[in-house]
Amino acid sequence: MEVEGRPEAAKCLDASRGDPSGFHQPDQLPAGELLWPIRDEQRPEVVHTVEEFLDALLFQPHVDRVVVLPNGVELLNQQHAIPEKLCRAVRKSSTIRSFLAEISKEGKDEYRARLWHYSIPGMEKEIKTGEKSKLMVDKIAGLAQQEADGVVLPNAPIYVSELRNAEKHWHPLVKDEFVKTSTMCDVYDFTPDSRKMPLWERSEGGIFLGERGTGSGFHIDQCMWSNVGRNWCGHKLFAIWPWADRFTVTEKVGKGRMLHLPLTDPDVELLGQAKCIALVKPGDVWVFSGAQPHTALVVGDALNISAYESLVPANAEAVFTLIRSNIKDMHPKNFWMDDEDLDELFEDVVDNIQRALKAPSLEQKIKERLQECTTVMRERGDAYCRELWRQEDCGERQRRREQDSSSSESEEGEGDGTAEGEGDNPSKLAKAVKKTSGNFSDALAASVACVDDDGPTSKKARNGAE
Ligand SMILES: [Fe+2]
Repeated sequence: MEVEGRPEAAKCLDASRGDPSGFHQPDQLPAGELLWPIRDEQRPEVVHTVEEFLDALLFQPHVDRVVVLPNGVELLNQQHAIPEKLCRAVRKSSTIRSFLAEISKEGKDEYRARLWHYSIPGMEKEIKTGEKSKLMVDKIAGLAQQEADGVVLPNAPIYVSELRNAEKHWHPLVKDEFVKTSTMCDVYDFTPDSRKMPLWERSEGGIFLGERGTGSGFHIDQCMWSNVGRNWCGHKLFAIWPWADRFTVTEKVGKGRMLHLPLTDPDVELLGQAKCIALVKPGDVWVFSGAQPHTALVVGDALNISAYESLVPANAEAVFTLIRSNIKDMHPKNFWMDDEDLDELFEDVVDNIQRALKAPSLEQKIKERLQECTTVMRERGDAYCRELWRQEDCGERQRRREQDSSSSESEEGEGDGTAEGEGDNPSKLAKAVKKTSGNFSDALAASVACVDDDGPTSKKARNGAE
């Protein structure tokens, strides 16, 4: 049974916990905390109602914007999305090492996660283990070993990224959804309109836990979608650079660079060029585009807990941004995702739009927006996008995943070596999306002539522009 609407989403709520955030973490920054400088014109847009935020989230483009809903965790019924086991460990901890020790006491290899250290200012470094294991307990052992070896300094900040369940499980709210996500609920569960969007990925994002000096280094997402972040406790600085500068800035700064405090003079200059800088506070929910350079840095004494969902809103401009992923002159190449996975993701988008458009009670506003999205994919997409729609029109489309079911069971890799987290995931994304996106939908009645065009050579088509 699918959960539709807010009454079911209220299941996210349970008995009240001891303090407002439930995590026993300071909710204010210490006096004198060093922060990034923020000019007035760099501040994010702030909205104060659920309606305003949902309109921005679901129907507006996000490039060059950060839109914040203060107290959004409560307003969107996300207060109790973090599993109690993690809450217990956070409540007893003021450092990530302490949190990891608490989790380890529980003994069970229930979670997988990536760990990062920041022993050298301005650099993020993943803590990898010799084995292929992705279990958090093994990463914790790897951290201890690297500390013993002197690779990780004793006082180096530690970041936990993409913490999720090691094994798939049935979602606690949506009984027919098989997920790895460790969050108990998501923004996805708050509104039924989430299921009508061209894309919404909530399965693989995971939870991020950090302390002062941790965060995600400078990057662009592996596909050019949007992210909605929830911040349960702690403070996090978050910056984006202009879409128009995405090539020059990433070339200058490099992948994975951290803007640690105190800032160097070049860092101050770089932040001066940022399009938007937000100080994300406890309880904030915010939306941004991952298509432009961005980075995040935890500040303050509190442990920071956040999580992200990735989506493409029902907006033609947003879909046009997405379909320029993995195109040389549009999306810097060192951030590309696996090209075949991107093909599958585009298939999901076609399926999702088709399924939503076929729903009998679809609101006119969403219908019109989705039709605009379809037009963009047909007219401005690469050869593979146009081929997908041609096959859809002809009723001849069969998903490759149906032809090759084994691919859906393969395990993802370790990602691209950055704490890319702030919303983007490793290249397994598309395979995760398909788990929640329903079955292949029958073609709509053909509305355009089924003529051959550039053919289904997706990889060559995108790379052919080089
Ligand atoms: Fe990101």
